[in-house]
Amino acid sequence: MSPTAVDTLKTYKIAVVPADGIGPEVIEAGVTVLNSLVGALRSFKLDFTNYDWSSEKYKETGVYIPEGGLEELKKHDAILFGSVGAPDVPDHISLWGLRLAICQSLQQYANVRPTRVLPGTQSPLRGCGTGDLDWVIVRENSEGEYAGQGGRSHIGCAWETATEVAIFTRHAIERLMRFGFETAQSRPRKLLTVVTKSNAQRNGLVLWDKVASDVSKEFPDVKMDKMLVDAMTVRMVQHPKSLDTIVATNLHADILSDLAAALAGSIGIAPTSNLDPTRENPSMFEPIHGSAFDITGKGIANPVATFWTAAEMLAWLGEQEASSLLMSAVEKVSSRGIMTPDLAGTATTKDVTEAVIKEIEN
Ligand code: NAI
Ligand code: MG
Repeated sequence: MSPTAVDTLKTYKIAVVPADGIGPEVIEAGVTVLNSLVGALRSFKLDFTNYDWSSEKYKETGVYIPEGGLEELKKHDAILFGSVGAPDVPDHISLWGLRLAICQSLQQYANVRPTRVLPGTQSPLRGCGTGDLDWVIVRENSEGEYAGQGGRSHIGCAWETATEVAIFTRHAIERLMRFGFETAQSRPRKLLTVVTKSNAQRNGLVLWDKVASDVSKEFPDVKMDKMLVDAMTVRMVQHPKSLDTIVATNLHADILSDLAAALAGSIGIAPTSNLDPTRENPSMFEPIHGSAFDITGKGIANPVATFWTAAEMLAWLGEQEASSLLMSAVEKVSSRGIMTPDLAGTATTKDVTEAVIKEIEN
C-alpha cells in the first residue's frame, strides 16, 4: 500500500483511561491487540491518547478528573476504560469520581452487556453450552437507583438517617426502552424481556411497565415479556435458552449482568458499552469487572473482557469487519483451551494476548 493510501485512511481518536488495579494490565493487552488488528487490516487507524486518571492521582491531587478533563474526552471518537477502585479509597468516592462522572456527563444512557458462553469454556450451569446462553442486557445508565439523590443527617447518632432516592423519569425510561427494543429487533429472535419489581416498588417501576407497553406498540415485530427481578434470577439459571435481550433498571441490570457473566463462565470475559445513542458524545467501553485487588500484578487477569469490549467499540465506530475478526480470534483461542485461571486454564494475560495476536495475523 502506498504511503498516500495509508494517509487517507479513516482515523479514530480513542481516549484510554486504564485507571486502577488490573485496569492497566488488561487495557495494555487490549491496546496491543487493537494495534495488531489495525496492522493486519490496514483499513482504518486508531490514534490512542492515554489519560493517567486514577486513585493514585486522586490521592495526590484530590480529584479524579482534572479541570477540563471531560471537555478533553469529548474530542475523541470513543473512550476505552479499565477499572476504578482502590483498597484505600472508599468505593463510592472512586466510582462517582471517575466512572460515573464520565457516564453521566456524557449522556451515556444505555449500558449494553452482551453475554455468551465462549467455545471451549464451561458454564457452571449443567448442560449449558455455546449457543444455549446468548443474551444482551441493556441497563439504564443515567438515573434510577444510581441517580445520586439523597442525603445523610444526624451523622454518628443512634438515629442517623440516610436516604437514597431512586429517580425514574418518562424521558429516560422511554429513550432506554426504545434502545432496548431496537437491540432486540436487530437480533434474530426479536425477543425482549422487561425486568422490574413493580409489585413492591409501586411508583417508579409501574411507570417502567407503562412506558414499556407504550413503546412496544412501535415495535410490533418484537415479542415482549415481563419479569420481576427476583424471578428473573431463577429464569436465568434454570431456563437460559428462554432469554435473548433484557432491559432493566440501573441497579437491577448491574446485578443481573454480573450473574450473567458468572453463568457464562467468568466475570473476566464480560464486556460493557456505555453508549450515547444520539452520538452527540463519545461512548465509553470497559470490561464489566472491577480492579480485582486479589490478582493485581500477578499477570493472570483475563484480558478477554477487554478484547470483547474492544470489539464492541469497533462495531460502534462502524468497523464491523474488524470487530468480527477480533471476536473470531478470541473464540479460536478459547476453543483451543488457552485460558486464564478464572476459566480454569493455566495461561497468563500475556499468553492469551499473544495467542489472539497470532490468530489475527493468520
Ligand atoms: P472485581 O470485579 O474487581 O472482582 C471480583 C472477583 O472477580 C475477584 O475475585 C477478581 O479477582 C475476579 N476478576 C475480576 N476481573 C477479573 C479478570 N479480568 N480476570 C480474572 N479474574 C477477575 O469486583 P470487586 O472485588 O467487587 O471490586 C473491586 C474494586 O473494583 C472495588 O473498588 C469496586 O468499586 C471496583 N469496581 C469498579 C468497576 C468499574 O470501574 N467499572 C466495576 C466493579 C467494581
Ligand atoms: Mg457492576
